[in-house]
Amino acid sequence: QKNIGILTSGGDAQGMNPCVRAVVRMAIARNCRPFFIYEGYQGLVDGGAKIKEAKWTDVSGFLALGGTMIGTARCKAFRELEGRRTGVLNLIKNGIDALVVIGGDGSLTGADRLRAEWPEHVQALEQAGLITKENAEKYRTLMIVGMVGSIDNDLASTDMTIGACSALERICESVDAILSTAMSHQRAFVVEVMGRHCGWLALNAAISTGADYLFIPEAPPSKDDWEASMCKTLKASRDAGKRTSLVIVAEGAIDRHLNPIKAEYIKDILSTRLGYDTRVTILGHVQRGGAPAHFDRFLGTMQGAEAIEAILRAKPDTPSLVIGMLENKITTQPLKEAIELTGQVAQSIEGKDFARAITLRSSAFSK
Ligand code: F6P
Repeated sequence: QKNIGILTSGGDAQGMNPCVRAVVRMAIARNCRPFFIYEGYQGLVDGGAKIKEAKWTDVSGFLALGGTMIGTARCKAFRELEGRRTGVLNLIKNGIDALVVIGGDGSLTGADRLRAEWPEHVQALEQAGLITKENAEKYRTLMIVGMVGSIDNDLASTDMTIGACSALERICESVDAILSTAMSHQRAFVVEVMGRHCGWLALNAAISTGADYLFIPEAPPSKDDWEASMCKTLKASRDAGKRTSLVIVAEGAIDRHLNPIKAEYIKDILSTRLGYDTRVTILGHVQRGGAPAHFDRFLGTMQGAEAIEAILRAKPDTPSLVIGMLENKITTQPLKEAIELTGQVAQSIEGKDFARAITLRSSAFSK
């Protein structure tokens, strides 16, 4: 029997609740004890009431709920060694020997670091007399399993992250609504979507809403005078009878010199060069809120169940794992590799190797 802590960390994402529900219920079904750790890593650092055993009925109704019911935070204290050491102490005090983390790239990197430092923390806590010799022996390692909860779909090694599909649905609904008013007035709209340094949401939104032009970080315009080429494209579709122009810009969009391309700048170009009545809509956090779409409920549930199985299969030398989905199959891979691969995307963009960035992003992105 294992005692399994579960936390959600970083930006929330639709589908985190279904995932938490699956972890809790699968843990109980497999004769383990699940523990909520509230407010992400902050709860780990604070301990006390922030760590509480979870019961079967505590997660009733979670499937349909947006956000994360166990709270999340971007925790400064956990970035410091001392904060992480306090977290280790709180885990041991609660008898927790495995941890499930649902979060984005940064949160999973934090989990991987915690695992790597674990023996050092345990030794220091024993030396400081904060844990007994027996506990130092008993908690020699902490198994960690991560799942990627992020609307950005920015982690290499999985086709989809939990939340990306719901966010994309919300974007499509919003852009459809914008297009009806744009059409009435023959206006141009520049719509900025989230995604941090990843263009997955923007790319898929552009395909799904029939955008005229798209800007994403992984594929900056190939020429310096991209403004002229954008205007030419938009004008051609107006000349062909289209009543609207739609440009989708990822919040992290850049030009080929790595300078940001911002929605307001695009608007100015369309207004001054083409004379279009242009509006900017920044969709913001509406993309992250609300009930999860079917796919995120399904993905969160399948991955949550697999997380428990992975913990139960693990040997003391099993590395931290990340649960993903590749070609419609739930996968289990070393967390470190996924993080390193994701880091290579950022390096490729910095090094202006954009083709490699796209290939690395994920198999879904590159197809
Ligand atoms: O990582 C998810 C995300 O929504 C990004 O798309 C966005 O850049 C960022 O988080 C916004 O963060 P915050 O909610 O802290 O403003």
